[in-house]
Amino acid sequence: MSRAVELVDQLKALEAEALEEVARQEDAEGLESIRISYLGRKDGRISGILRGLGGLDPSERPRVGAEANRVKGSLQEALERREERLAADEEAGGAKVDLTLPARQEWVGGRHPVTRVVDELVEIFRGLGFTRARGPEAESEWYNFVALNTPLDHPAADEQDTLYLKGGYLLRSHTSPVQVRVMENHKPPIRVLAPGMVYRRDSYDATHTPAFAQLEGLVVDEGITFVDFKATLAEFARRYFGRGARVRFRPSFFPFTEPSAEVDVKRVVHRPDGSTEESDWLEIMGAGMVDPAVLESAGIDSERYTGFAFGMGPGRIGMLKYGIPDLRLYLDNDVRFLRQFAGR
Ligand code: DAH
Repeated sequence: MSRAVELVDQLKALEAEALEEVARQEDAEGLESIRISYLGRKDGRISGILRGLGGLDPSERPRVGAEANRVKGSLQEALERREERLAADEEAGGAKVDLTLPARQEWVGGRHPVTRVVDELVEIFRGLGFTRARGPEAESEWYNFVALNTPLDHPAADEQDTLYLKGGYLLRSHTSPVQVRVMENHKPPIRVLAPGMVYRRDSYDATHTPAFAQLEGLVVDEGITFVDFKATLAEFARRYFGRGARVRFRPSFFPFTEPSAEVDVKRVVHRPDGSTEESDWLEIMGAGMVDPAVLESAGIDSERYTGFAFGMGPGRIGMLKYGIPDLRLYLDNDVRFLRQFAGR
């Protein structure tokens, strides 16, 4: 190999080594020391190689000189680009920008967990023949209480510590008034569900909020008995809480039903190891056979028709289903909580 070819090869190897060092360098001082060590006029490594030029045949010198200039230029440019890059990174808050990183997805929002529960419940009852109904949140005393067999001086009216508006209106304290509105406008057979917000002058703590969602159900037809009532709710419980779920009807009192019951469910809980266990009884709704007085106040012949009704709190059902410990989480509007339900 001629001496000239040897020098050109040395220059190329030096270039490769230098470029690699530049790429690894993380600060401006480091770049400066690389510049001095390779490009320095007196002690630089390129100058060192060029010192060998003297021993070459004059005809070969230009070739080596040209290669040396090319390597100098390439290194100079690499140093400049790296310097610019480090400065830009620093401006970006010292963070190293990794352009290969996929962009962070914007969270475009999702259904509120209570809305999800309502939708799930409505879907199940749709399968049992129910349609959706709605009524106003600003109600009259007549629909909220009187038509539901609850005289205004009845203790049950006091119990729901109501928020009154002007002119005899109030924020409905339950979704039951929708029962009356539906019966006024539709002839039996009736099978409706009425989800919506209700309002009470309540405390704001883990288990109470002054505004919350309810889901009302109403069935009215000829020949509806307590058997239909129990069977419908037992089937609902199995479809929502899983096979093996059981219901229990405890005697209770509501002015608009007779007899009245509180309905509890017990569900089968599947543990990660495959074994199962039964939950405690959990109260999920108030319910009962529609009081004849309620049918009559909505203009339905109570000799011919009977029915059952129920009212549940989707917020409470969501607490059970998702293990939510505090009702206020639903209303805090904290996306760290809400987005956990986005994909469900
Ligand atoms: N309206 C009742 C409440 O808010 C719940 C309820 C109980 C609804 C019995 C009903 C029912 O339809 O039959 O506490």
